Amino acid sequence: MRCDRLWRDARLATMAGNGLGIVEDGVVAASGGRILYAGSAADAPAFDPERAETLDGRWITPGLIDCHTHLVHGGDRAHEFELRLAGASYEEIARAGGGIVSTMRATRNADEARLVELALLRLDALIAEGATTVEVKSGYGLTVADELKMLRAARRLGEARPVGIRTTLLGAHALPPEYAGDADGYVELVCREMIPAAAREGLADAVDAFCEGIGFTPAQTQRVFDAARAAGLAVKLHAEQLSNLHGAQLAAEAGALSADHLEYLDADGIAAMARAGTVATLLPGAYYFVRETKLPPVDGLRAAGVPIAIATDCNPGTSPLTSLLLTMNMGATLFRLTVDECLAGVTRNAAHALGLQAEIGTLEPGKSCDLAIWDIERPAELVYRIGFNPLHTRIWKGL
Ligand code: NIG
Ligand code: FE
Repeated sequence: MRCDRLWRDARLATMAGNGLGIVEDGVVAASGGRILYAGSAADAPAFDPERAETLDGRWITPGLIDCHTHLVHGGDRAHEFELRLAGASYEEIARAGGGIVSTMRATRNADEARLVELALLRLDALIAEGATTVEVKSGYGLTVADELKMLRAARRLGEARPVGIRTTLLGAHALPPEYAGDADGYVELVCREMIPAAAREGLADAVDAFCEGIGFTPAQTQRVFDAARAAGLAVKLHAEQLSNLHGAQLAAEAGALSADHLEYLDADGIAAMARAGTVATLLPGAYYFVRETKLPPVDGLRAAGVPIAIATDCNPGTSPLTSLLLTMNMGATLFRLTVDECLAGVTRNAAHALGLQAEIGTLEPGKSCDLAIWDIERPAELVYRIGFNPLHTRIWKGL
């Protein structure tokens, strides 16, 4: 059988089904950028490849997926980090006019080209560890023009590098100073102008919001969801990060792809997510960096069968993290996720959190041929090491 590329003498973690989907003596064949075959050498058809590589027993996993980032932003918050080291809390800094609003100023002051240039530094770090799809949120512009500028910058990342980029409009991230005292007025702007404009220009794949005491109320979040639905866009939510406003339940009832953070999630929220098939995206980097002590209810999520994804949440305020390998290690050490759960969290379930489960996330025929090839002896090494990158080769769409 003709194919473009063939990788043989490989060990596979296909991530198909529920576990790792291990194949000891495996081959992967690709044609037209898609997987033609991924499985045991013994069962493989006789391939006639254009180009073949022997991997000497190296492991192949699906290319990694970072399903929650704020990669595009101006400036940094190293100074706030120092304030926190001196005792200030994340919420105190935000309420004093720092936090998201300080990144908003830096982002408004940067033009699209500068935002792309800065984000590429962070994207390249993710790519160097095998990331093949990355979600990027807006949320630091907080005007129609600046949010669209961020989304355009995000789309341009996908033209500048061989990587899949999914964009999410996070207009309801924080209240910009010009709307002080008028959160409803700002939500009106998000719903009436920002969401329709982003949809019209094809700049957003989904809509997100920050449902929190220092963010937006459940009622305001519901309005954002209604506007997203009217514009034909999927929804996601930053929920239960610092307190329990029952945002996850609201998100699940709106058919959200994912609810993210979830440290303060309760049993009703878990049940609602399970019913709706909403993915729980856990963000151990943010938990670590803000020194949160409340753990997300991992046992409850497991028992209810809610798919768990993990992501970097790469952002300047709560998670200046650009490593999915370290994210997996944190998922295991901080949240007690298993190796299988960590790997599923950055592949199969991360794809699901983006609504891309038919396209990426496992090594199965018909899916995009996005591969990470590793110099490791066993998959657990990807989770166990800290600050070590065993990536051998990364393949995106068969190339
Ligand atoms: O995912 N929680 C809200 N948004 C980001 C933090 C953004 C920031 O502090 O700049 C998060 O943690
Ligand atoms: Fe986030």
